[in-house]
Amino acid sequence: MNILVTGGAGFIGSAVVRHIIQHTSHHVLNVDKLTYAGNLESLASVADHERYQFSQTDICDRVALDQLFKTFQPDLVMHLAAESHVDRSITGSKDFIETNIIGTYQLLEAARFYWNALEESKKATFRFHHISTDEVYGDLEGTDDLFTETTPYAPSSPYSASKASSDHLVRAWHRTYGLPVVLTNCSNNYGPYHFPEKLIPLIILNALAGKALPVYGNGEQIRDWLYVEDHARALYTVVTEAKVGETYNIGGHNEQKNIDVVKSICTLLEELAPNKPSGIEHYQDLITYVKDRPGHDLRYAIDASKIEKDLAWVPLESFETGLRKTVQWYLSNTKWIENVQSGEYKNWLVEQYQADE
Ligand code: NAD
Ligand code: DAU
Repeated sequence: MNILVTGGAGFIGSAVVRHIIQHTSHHVLNVDKLTYAGNLESLASVADHERYQFSQTDICDRVALDQLFKTFQPDLVMHLAAESHVDRSITGSKDFIETNIIGTYQLLEAARFYWNALEESKKATFRFHHISTDEVYGDLEGTDDLFTETTPYAPSSPYSASKASSDHLVRAWHRTYGLPVVLTNCSNNYGPYHFPEKLIPLIILNALAGKALPVYGNGEQIRDWLYVEDHARALYTVVTEAKVGETYNIGGHNEQKNIDVVKSICTLLEELAPNKPSGIEHYQDLITYVKDRPGHDLRYAIDASKIEKDLAWVPLESFETGLRKTVQWYLSNTKWIENVQSGEYKNWLVEQYQADE
């Protein structure tokens, strides 16, 4: 099959592209604008593969999207491109509205016009998979409550409100136009190639540099962590096996308080990186409570029983094994980190094309 992946240069998208190239025989077209979060160095292991191709394209550009659908002739679309960082959505929401809402609209329209013109057999098997977040449900108050696929939407941040809007558009395009869609809403991912603005990579890299470890508010907020390769496997299962119109929640059964996540990282670093920056006795001494995030959701937790039952997907990593792998990855991949921190990764495309000439 031909699989068009949007946002394939991002954290989760790159895991999806690596998964498809390494574990299937399908062809991938990665459509990515390469914002600050897009990093082609995360795709170095598949970049030269004959079944992989890349297009630097903004999903808001309908003319370019139409051309890509025409030439690539996708059997499946996996839509991950988005502005994804909650804190950035609070300081500036414009890009979130444009990419997450308008961009999803443009992609839906391009997909609909392409799908309408397909022959009947291809029309029946085509899928548009919208990749979304558990943040559309807002936060949970009770300690036993879980998000299910029927939990009402109550987004808190500009980011989650923009993702909720995109989910509604996707369902409307299914109901009104018959576009064969599937949706997934996932909890917090972590793992290799995670941009160090998000909690886990930020804490690992700050600790190694002897910098403060910022914990928002009292650190009692709870997130449900899923190893990114488990998510990539779940997404591939859903896009290839789920019935049209279905929604699946995806989560890791790994609820953790933020402060406990930060302490677990410090403990792992004591073992794996015992040579600390000068003047630091214990990594935990760097923990610093800072001003809380406005509108900060208290607790997320996913009921993933539907995907487990219908599609036999279960996460393979526990938080302990996944976090250890993640810390080890950041300790071993210093070049990727240096290039992200210096901004050098943005030159990768230029260098790649120069090298090809
Ligand atoms: P990311 O920020 O790491 O990557 C986003 C990618 O989208 C980048 O490569 C970026 O260049 C690209 N992009 C942004 N705007 C674009 C545009 N206008 N046109 C084309 N490409 C554009 O995000 P991520 O963490 O990999 O998340 C991927 C998807 O999964 C998002 O839709 C996000 O909402 C969702 N999600 C993320 C998590 C998580 O924990 N990270 C959890 C659940 C769902
Ligand atoms: O739940 C899924 C969502 O998870 C995705 O939809 C988002 O794209 C993804 O970014 C993530 O959102 P969060 O806001 O939960 O992730 P973040 O890593 O930014 O923060 C995790 C928790 O840690 C959150 O409660 C805020 C807190 N935090 C974060 C940072 C960056 C801190 O305490 N200190 C920090 O410096």
